[in-house]
Amino acid sequence: MQDWFDVAKKIDSLVLEAAASAGLENSFSSEIRPADPRFGDLQANGALPYAKRNKNNPRQIAQSLVEKLEANPNLTEHADISIAGPGFINFKFKPSFQLAWLSAFRDRESFKSAAKALHAGEKVVVDYGSPNTAKQMHVGHIRSIVIGEAICRLLEFCGAEVVRDNHIGDWGTPYGKLFYAYKRHLDAKALERDPLEELERLYKLGSKLADDAAVLEECRQELVDLQAGKPESMALWETVNKLSIQGLETIYKELDVHYDCYLGESFYRDKVEQVYQELKDNGLSEESKGAVVVFHPEHPRFKEQPFIIRKSDGASNYATTDLATMLYRNEHFKATSIVIVTDDRQKDHFEQLDLTTKKWFEKTRRQMPKFSHVMFGKINGEDGKVIKSRSGDPIRLRQLIDEAVERAAKIVREKNATLPEDEIKHIAEVIGVNAIKYADLSQNRTSDYIFTWEKLLSFEGNTAPYLLYAAARIQSIFRKLDTDQLADLESKATPFETPEEIALANKIIAFVGVLQSTIEQLRPHLLCTYLFELAGAYSSFYSANKVIVSESDVQARRLLLCQRTLVALQSGLGLLGIPTLQRM
Ligand code: ARG
Repeated sequence: MQDWFDVAKKIDSLVLEAAASAGLENSFSSEIRPADPRFGDLQANGALPYAKRNKNNPRQIAQSLVEKLEANPNLTEHADISIAGPGFINFKFKPSFQLAWLSAFRDRESFKSAAKALHAGEKVVVDYGSPNTAKQMHVGHIRSIVIGEAICRLLEFCGAEVVRDNHIGDWGTPYGKLFYAYKRHLDAKALERDPLEELERLYKLGSKLADDAAVLEECRQELVDLQAGKPESMALWETVNKLSIQGLETIYKELDVHYDCYLGESFYRDKVEQVYQELKDNGLSEESKGAVVVFHPEHPRFKEQPFIIRKSDGASNYATTDLATMLYRNEHFKATSIVIVTDDRQKDHFEQLDLTTKKWFEKTRRQMPKFSHVMFGKINGEDGKVIKSRSGDPIRLRQLIDEAVERAAKIVREKNATLPEDEIKHIAEVIGVNAIKYADLSQNRTSDYIFTWEKLLSFEGNTAPYLLYAAARIQSIFRKLDTDQLADLESKATPFETPEEIALANKIIAFVGVLQSTIEQLRPHLLCTYLFELAGAYSSFYSANKVIVSESDVQARRLLLCQRTLVALQSGLGLLGIPTLQRM
């Protein structure tokens, strides 16, 4: 069954084999896609374009393919084949095949060991989270964290080696003002209580005081000292950085996110000379108004809009460090892919970075890793504007999480008054935190989305509470049974019969294809939509088909479906960074 894990890929290879033995020339290719469910599960559409190209009758081409396919017992044993319309070939899986598939892929581990082949050998550096330090994270920061984490988990599950890199903004101009205020106005107690809050207060204070020209001059001097690596400045910078990372990590921990490294902007400060030198030597950069820039003459916009890689005062900038970062990820990590997750306002920056790096690496004969800028839109309030707290500042991520947990606790208490208080607390934490994560993940990342507490904490619709509840409900069925009834379901079960059983089995098998498209597009909402549909297929099955029945074979196959639905739900949610609950 192993080679049937990815059913679409298997069918594709069988169609290509059939094309070869039917004597079609080797330019034949087919796209395997979901079929109209009335006629089949998968459809191959290769006959049409082939016939068009060769001025043949498509129906005849399809017919010749089907003849070969029908002569292949490895296929006919598993699927019924038919021709529809002008020459589409439909495949409908036999219930015995569905049962064999579900028997072979029984748990998360067996899914994972088959999925491993999909991205084996790849090494991906995922740059996500990546806030600027010495500041609280606000609500907008959640997107990069949760989308990035889901991407890491998906890639790892499919066999890639992943480096989780937090490219923090820990260098640059804000430090002058921050240091100025830190040395004069530090509240040590506040720093201990909440380092990020106090550092942010100091930075804001420093900025305000710098309205005064003399103070501004002192701030500049602080910055010059830091950039010159003066020991005293470096020591303070180390302290601030350490505290910042500590502050960030308390939130990452709650979100169940753990980085392999924090190679922030400061890490690259001694790696920029090589960038200037190589881009210049290879004729890629030029001087413009005192700055060093790269133009891309072939590009409609970037032929005029420069990528500034060195400021006119000689200092490096965001582009310089990012170029150095590309090089480091290529040489040190030997990354085959680089994924950077940020909001869509940085679109131009990363397009220019990609174009520039491609040319640079080509000239210097380096391998260019696959580069993806995974961008996302804004989170808006119900009025359609960026959400702000009452004071007009962006809402702190900390407050958002606390409020979610509080609201979830209220709901859980209302729904389930008899649960012990510590369990309510635990359930509320899981629901609260994960409802926020899921609300974000379930939106197509490139659009803005509207944040509403009611929607995100609702037990109905495409939400975390709904899916967690679906998983908990399945587990409650198992709790009522003894181990005997749950043993050897695979051998006791007979093939699926009712339309709901068949539809649910197909939905579970479809998990593999969804994994792939989610990774291909780096869009976690595709997996969310799938899980929501899976829970829907399960609930149609459960309300139309009694699970505990007198015929032991029927009961076995229905329990098997319950169990595999749970596996798919738990695995899918786990890939999104969401743990499930035993009960709710
Ligand atoms: N620190 C940046 C920000 O807050 C994001 C960094 C993303 N990663 C990168 N390599 N540029 O917008």
